[in-house]
Amino acid sequence: MLVFVSPSNPTGSVYTAEETAAIGEWALEHGIWVISDEIYQNLTYEGVKATSIVEAVPALAGQTILVNGVAKTYAMTGWRVGWMVGPADAIKIAGNLQSHLSSNVNNVAQKAAIAALNGPQTEAEQFREAFDRRRRLIVSELSKIDGLVVPNPLGAFYVYPDVQGLLGRTWDGVTPTTSLELADFILERAEVAVVPGEAFGPSGYIRMSYALGDDQLLEGVQRLQRLFS
Ligand SMILES: Cc1ncc(COP(=O)(O)O)c(C=O)c1O
Repeated sequence: MLVFVSPSNPTGSVYTAEETAAIGEWALEHGIWVISDEIYQNLTYEGVKATSIVEAVPALAGQTILVNGVAKTYAMTGWRVGWMVGPADAIKIAGNLQSHLSSNVNNVAQKAAIAALNGPQTEAEQFREAFDRRRRLIVSELSKIDGLVVPNPLGAFYVYPDVQGLLGRTWDGVTPTTSLELADFILERAEVAVVPGEAFGPSGYIRMSYALGDDQLLEGVQRLQRLFS
């Protein structure tokens, strides 16, 4: 099974329609099932659109499970409401399993999710615009730190800079050599929380979320600028 996540956590990258189609066609050709996690599908920037893999390759629908939820688009993280869309037999079996693991999402959260999905989407768009503004702020401010390589993320609400240029250097008598050590150093000295690349794969990167207020975001990035100046 292929797990396809676009826009991505942790990188914030978004596959193009062509890339999505190529991956979908490959999965189809090889009879590989796909779980497509589309939870960030409404959070894209600079005119980029996240193409669903079944939109790109409709024939893949018979072997794809779409996963989505209200957590990101509607700022409902913690409400624990999501859904799957897929072939009826697969969904039925998944439902049987789910009913013994975490059955009965509380009714209030379900009602709230219905209201979010069926109500006007203007506030969701305002959230997206706020994220876009914060995205541009964090990318431009982080880029001022010597030793950081900051890609421009086009989706989700994360930035995933390459921190290898900071490793092996000494600040205040501390010499972080991995992104895990760097994350600890940042937490201790700047009181800014980042997730080290080790949580997702290789060392050398950190994930930073910009899902927070503009003022706090600026304060956090400025602390990093001071720490590494
Ligand atoms: C790619 C992806 N899928 C799903 C989720 C789950 O969201 P929730 O469990 O809050 O509905 C997250 C949350 O971080 C995510 O990043």
